Amino acid sequence: MAPQRPIIIDCDPGQDDAVALLVALGSSELDIIGITAVAGNVPLKLTETNARKVCELANRTEIKVFAGHDAPLERPLVTAEDVHGRTGLDGPDLPEPTMKLQEAHATAFIINSLREHPARSVTLCPLGPLTNIAAAIEAAPDIISRIEEIVLMGGANFERGNVTPAAEFNIYVDPQAADIVFSSGVPITVMSLDVTHQALTTTERIAAFRSLGNPAGLATAEMMEFFARFDSEKYGTAGAPLHDPCVIAYLLQPDLFSGKMVNVEIETESELTMGMTVVDWWNVTNRPANAKFISTVDDDGYFNLLTERIGLL
Ligand code: RIB
Ligand code: CA
Repeated sequence: MAPQRPIIIDCDPGQDDAVALLVALGSSELDIIGITAVAGNVPLKLTETNARKVCELANRTEIKVFAGHDAPLERPLVTAEDVHGRTGLDGPDLPEPTMKLQEAHATAFIINSLREHPARSVTLCPLGPLTNIAAAIEAAPDIISRIEEIVLMGGANFERGNVTPAAEFNIYVDPQAADIVFSSGVPITVMSLDVTHQALTTTERIAAFRSLGNPAGLATAEMMEFFARFDSEKYGTAGAPLHDPCVIAYLLQPDLFSGKMVNVEIETESELTMGMTVVDWWNVTNRPANAKFISTVDDDGYFNLLTERIGLL
């Protein structure tokens, strides 16, 4: 078997985070050295609990789950219970987890993991606000040269914002953290709303998860049915964009996606455009390209991959 790719998934489950975790847990190409939780869709106590619920759903209780920051670096926390429900994982009725939460803070785990693994071997996969990642970089700048790549879900360009007219939720919640990450010089690949809005959870695709017949497939269908109601109504589309699994799918089958290197800056001053990813898509400035901004996905191939991997759990 080819060597596994070591990754850390930083997340704020959230149904789409949960599906991303399930796909990663069903993929032997990936060595999940840890899952770190951050406050975002719902408060930290719920996001770390939900991450452990998903590990138990996948029968992967050996996975280490860490709690991180319970609030953004500077701004007050903004959550999204209207989208994800009070628990953050509304839809299926998953039991309270019995697997233990790790005692170390997520930021310490991220720093230590990067120092202990060979340089440029660990990929960071943030699926929520970038607070934990930015805090690790601020506390230990030496890790910048040790991160293989950051593949994140966040931001928007042509799609505009989903939480304000200008900003996508993950970046909006902690724009200062996003600015630290995008200014760090670490190789970054961005799965923004521009690409996730091409990957809709249609009824046929939800039925395919349900027809897997395993607990993870059923729970995924139930999560998608709950999660889809909000965005389907908001956008008038046949299904909701399935954001976070794009990060994991990119690691597994990058040829499903396409994009280009561009400069991305983060708005951290104006309240009107706070958290906006200012993307120099047409290269009209001389600002250096600092991110691979993904703009297309083979959506059928994407959902086939997700269904295949969740079927292995
Ligand atoms: O804007 C979509 C992103 O915000 C997703 O990661 C979703 O889980 C929420 O965190
Ligand atoms: Ca998320």
